[in-house]
Amino acid sequence: MRKWNDDPFTKKAKKENYEARSVYKLEEIDKRERVMTGVTNVLDLGAAPGSWTQYCLKKIPAQGKVIAVDLAPLGFSHPQVIFLQESIEGLDLAPIIGSAQIDLVLSDMAPKTTGVHDTDVARSFDLASLALESAKRFLKPGGIFIVKLFMGDSFEEYRALLRSSFEQVRILRPESTRKHSREVFFVAKGFKKSP
Ligand SMILES: C[S@@+](CC[C@H](N)C(=O)[O-])C[C@H]1O[C@@H](n2cnc3c(N)ncnc32)[C@H](O)[C@@H]1O
Repeated sequence: MRKWNDDPFTKKAKKENYEARSVYKLEEIDKRERVMTGVTNVLDLGAAPGSWTQYCLKKIPAQGKVIAVDLAPLGFSHPQVIFLQESIEGLDLAPIIGSAQIDLVLSDMAPKTTGVHDTDVARSFDLASLALESAKRFLKPGGIFIVKLFMGDSFEEYRALLRSSFEQVRILRPESTRKHSREVFFVAKGFKKSP
């Protein structure tokens, strides 16, 4: 029987010193959509254990920052990372970023799954909605938002929400996504900030 750690992406992540195999999802999204080009400051929601943050650190300039938020701890610390161990509900970045702009908001947040399809889909929708609220508060005009959602009844509703705030919305399912996973990623570009 195949064990979980036989997974080629898990092995690769270990070899390349990434905290999680999830990094290859962001890497593929970036290869296909060029989301890191010109990015200085990133807000990474649901960042733990930290592989997406690690990927961003490789792509941003020396003066750039990653603000990483999670209920769980990050696996490392780094001078360019500001880690907030808290829920993103009620997130307040003003004391941290001042007037700095966030170029890219990422959300790989996932609820603790129950195995009950409708419950898991609803919880994922709630988290993605919270992430969208954060993106709308902190993203600079023209910025990019990448968010994970479990496929289900609320898919079209969420896409419509994104379309009302972004110029372009694409859907991706990276190759490293586990076969039985219901997750998809939205890549929303060109944030239309309301006055
Ligand atoms: C799939 S993991 C993220 C993996 C991460 N992108 C990486 O590359 O290491 C999902 C994360 O979402 C976090 N999460 C779930 N609900 C959250 C909330 N309300 N606020 C902050 N983080 C949350 C979980 O604690 C978990 O660490």
